Amino acid sequence: MKRTIVALDFQDKEKTLAFLDKFDEGIAVKIGMELFYKEGPEIVREIKRRGHYVFLDLKVCDIPNTAKGAFRSLASLDVDMINLHCYGGKKMMEAAMEGLKEGSKGELPLAIGVTILTSFDQDVLNTEIGIPGSIQDSAIRLATLAKESGLKGVVCSVFEAKKIHEVLGKDFVTVCPGIRMKSQDVQDQKRVATPEVANEEGCDFIVVGRAITASEDPVKAYHDIEEAFEND
Ligand code: C5P
Repeated sequence: MKRTIVALDFQDKEKTLAFLDKFDEGIAVKIGMELFYKEGPEIVREIKRRGHYVFLDLKVCDIPNTAKGAFRSLASLDVDMINLHCYGGKKMMEAAMEGLKEGSKGELPLAIGVTILTSFDQDVLNTEIGIPGSIQDSAIRLATLAKESGLKGVVCSVFEAKKIHEVLGKDFVTVCPGIRMKSQDVQDQKRVATPEVANEEGCDFIVVGRAITASEDPVKAYHDIEEAFEND
């Protein structure tokens, strides 16, 4: 099932809840570092209580034992989707999955690995960071490691989704940020695509922040994007 996730990149609880109050239905949202570091776990519980589907995007990356503890702690928040950086390697991902199982009471959240950030381009990957090869090859390599470690999918750009599905199967979930409407500024993102292209490329989820949150009419922007992406 395709789904549009709204990135709640707001500074605080007041701004976040004022934004969510505009919607009269449960939507899928992403809580990232900015909001979580400011407001802590209570903002996650509050948004869950309001009936929204929650992707907790904290991109955990540390030594295996610490990642395990982090996922064990986060499991108690009972979110729907959670993530870590594939760069942490297989042992870290496996340890985090153990922590998630230990800490979860009910159904496990969908555990997703971040491959290559959508703010990277080929030059950043090869020259700045010093990782050779194409972005797509790196993303597939990291996604393969994620699958082998027991994760259920990855965060990747729209342009890697099709290949990842070909190599790792249709059920391996692709979550794709870097979404812009045709006329919009790309801002700090590099590998951007429209919701229509995300649909054609077979992405399972798209993550949309500023194209919705900075819009004059966020509810309309959300529905326009949802329709363009989820339309079969
Ligand atoms: O405003 P914009 O649509 O660019 O926001 C994209 C969101 O997706 C941000 O919250 C960002 O942290 C997140 N994200 C990303 N690239 C990744 C993983 C997450 O842009 N690889």
